[in-house]
Amino acid sequence: MKPILEKITLPGGLLNPHQTHLKRVLSAMRGQYHDEQAYQTLLAGADILVYEVYEVLTPDTPGDLRHGTSIVHPGKVGDEYFMTKGHYHALLETAEVYYCLQGHGYMMMETPEGDWSAEELVPGMALYVPPCWAHRSINVGAQDFITFFTYPANSGHDYGAIETRGFRKLIVVRDGKPLIVDNPNWKKDGG
Ligand code: F6R
Ligand code: ZN
Repeated sequence: MKPILEKITLPGGLLNPHQTHLKRVLSAMRGQYHDEQAYQTLLAGADILVYEVYEVLTPDTPGDLRHGTSIVHPGKVGDEYFMTKGHYHALLETAEVYYCLQGHGYMMMETPEGDWSAEELVPGMALYVPPCWAHRSINVGAQDFITFFTYPANSGHDYGAIETRGFRKLIVVRDGKPLIVDNPNWKKDGG
């Protein structure tokens, strides 16, 4: 294949050219927010757009990379900030690099062994998510939280563990600022 040159437009995070443009709306986030009642109330109003991902669809051969932009819009469900679903890579031992282009967010991360970490991202900060760490982008700011990411093209995505168990920690707003708290709904055994 040939080299691919990209343009990332800010604000907005549009990546051109791209082959996929994922739009995740509130109804696709069922069960992810700790305040189910706040979730239902917000959803009853409108099925709003929570985040978008532009990606370049490279071949998934070992050695190749995927890359794109992730745009988490500002907002909250109750006291919990808008965020991505979050996932492990299906090929667990694959890493990912994120580079913050715009906004203010956190990457919430955890391992199956019980380790967790939340790293703050503002423009100019880069983050290495090591192999075997689940990761979720959380927008704690008032504008779009935009990151550039790249990861091995054969990684795949495993959403199941996070969908059933959730992350150990959440980020909620307290006195106008983000606070990391235990997830009251976290299911240790996944059941
Ligand atoms: C790819 C990756 C990001 C996310 C994106 C949306 O491995 O980590 O491109 O896919 O931020 O989040 P999810 O995939 O959790 O809906
Ligand atoms: Zn990933």
